[in-house]
Amino acid sequence: MFNWASALTLSLVLLATLSTVTASTLPQGAESIGRLASDAEIAAWDIDVRPDFLGLPEGSGDVWQGEEIWLAQCASCHGDFGDANHIFAPIVLGNITEEDIAQGRVAALQNPAITRTTLMKVPTLSTLWDYIYRAMPWNAPKSLTSDEVYALLAYILNLGYVVEDDFVLSDANIRVVQQRMPNRNGMTRDHGLWSVSDPPDVMGHTCVSDCAAETGVTSSLPDYAMNAHGNLAEQSRSWGPYPGQWTAPPLAQHEPQRPAVLSVPAQQLTTAGCTACHQMTGPLIGPSFHDIRDRYKGSQHAAYLQNRITQGGGGVWGDLPMPAMPDVGADALQDIIAWLIAGEWEEKEKEG
Ligand code: HEC
Ligand code: HEC
Repeated sequence: MFNWASALTLSLVLLATLSTVTASTLPQGAESIGRLASDAEIAAWDIDVRPDFLGLPEGSGDVWQGEEIWLAQCASCHGDFGDANHIFAPIVLGNITEEDIAQGRVAALQNPAITRTTLMKVPTLSTLWDYIYRAMPWNAPKSLTSDEVYALLAYILNLGYVVEDDFVLSDANIRVVQQRMPNRNGMTRDHGLWSVSDPPDVMGHTCVSDCAAETGVTSSLPDYAMNAHGNLAEQSRSWGPYPGQWTAPPLAQHEPQRPAVLSVPAQQLTTAGCTACHQMTGPLIGPSFHDIRDRYKGSQHAAYLQNRITQGGGGVWGDLPMPAMPDVGADALQDIIAWLIAGEWEEKEKEG
C-alpha cells in the first residue's frame, strides 16, 4: 500500500535540499536586489578559449574567406596585410623564419631594431582566437561568427607563412597548427614584469620551520613606474580605506625669493571641505591654519604637506587623525600649499 507518510517525508527532504541550493548560491541579503543568472546568460558570457582549447566552438574557415572578411572589417585599422602601424602595432610583418617555426622561438625578437608584431610574440593560437572573437572588430566587438574567426585566423597565419594558401582552419586541426606557432616556446616567467632584464617580481618560497606568525601583504610602485599612468591620487574614489597614492612629480616648489603675499585661498579651502575642521585661528577639529603655517613655513615643507593632505594621517597635533583628502584637485592643492608655506613672506610684508 502507498505510504503517504514516507512520501511526504521524501518531498520535504527534497524541498529542503532545493532551498539550501538556492540560499547558498545567492549571498545573504542579496535575494531582494538580484536574481541568479540564467544558463543562457552565463553561456553568453562564458566564451573564453583556454590554451588547451577548452571552450573552443566548432567551426572552420579558409584563407580566402578570411582575406575577404579581413579586407571588409579589419584592414581599415590594421592594414590590408595586417602590417599597418597607425592604430596599433602590426599584427604580421615578416621576421618569422622556417627555423623559428621549427624551434618555436622567434629569433628576431632579440633584435631591438625590429618591429615586434603580434604573430612574432603570441605563443598560443587560442589567445588570438579568443581575442578576435570577443574584442574585434574594435568598433563592433562580438559581432563575428565562429566560422568567420577561423577564417580570419587562417588568413593571419597565412600572412605569417604558418599555413599554406589553401588551408582550412577548424576546431579539428587547430591543435596541429598550434605546434607551428612561431613563438610557442618563447614564454618564460623568469624575469621582471616591467623590465625583462630585472629578476622576477614574485619570488615565493614555502616556509616549513620558524615561519613568521603574522605576515603583512603590501604592494608598492617602483620609482620609475610611479607616474606611468598619471597621478593615481586623482584617479581614485574618495571613499573607502585606500586613497590613491600621489604618483605625479611633487608640485612645483616655491623659490625662496618669491615675493608673494598670498591671499587666503578661501574658496579653495571651502570647496575642498577643509574649513569643516580647520579655522584660521584657534583649534577646531584640526589645528588652526595659523598654527599650521607657523610650523611649516618654507618651501622645504611643500612635498610633506602635499602628502599629508592627500593621504591624511594623525599623531602630529593630537589624537584625532585627518582623513585623506584626495579630491582637492592639483590646482587648488597647489594654491593651498603655496599659501601654507608662505607664512614667512606674509609676516615680512606686514612688518614692512
Ligand atoms: C576600428 C579599428 C579596428 C578595427 C576595424 C579592427 N581592429 Fe583589431 N585592434 C584595434 C586596436 C585599437 C587594437 C588594440 C586594442 C587594445 O590593445 O586595447 C586592436 C588589436 C587587435 C589584435 C590584438 C593585437 C595584440 O598584439 O594585442 C588583433 C589580433 C586584432 N586587433 C585583430 C583584428 C581583426 C581580426 C579585425 C577584423 C575582424 C580587427 N582587428 C578590426 C583596432 C581595430
Ligand atoms: C574631518 C576633519 C578634517 C578635514 C576635512 C581636513 N582636516 Fe586637516 N587636519 C585634521 C586633523 C584632525 C589634523 C591633525 C592631524 C594630526 O594630528 O596629525 C589635521 C592636520 C592638517 C595639517 C597638518 C598636518 C601635519 O602633519 O602637521 C594640514 C596641513 C591640514 N590638516 C590641511 C588640511 C587641508 C588643506 C584640508 C582640506 C583639503 C584639510 N586639512 C581638511 C582634520 C581635518
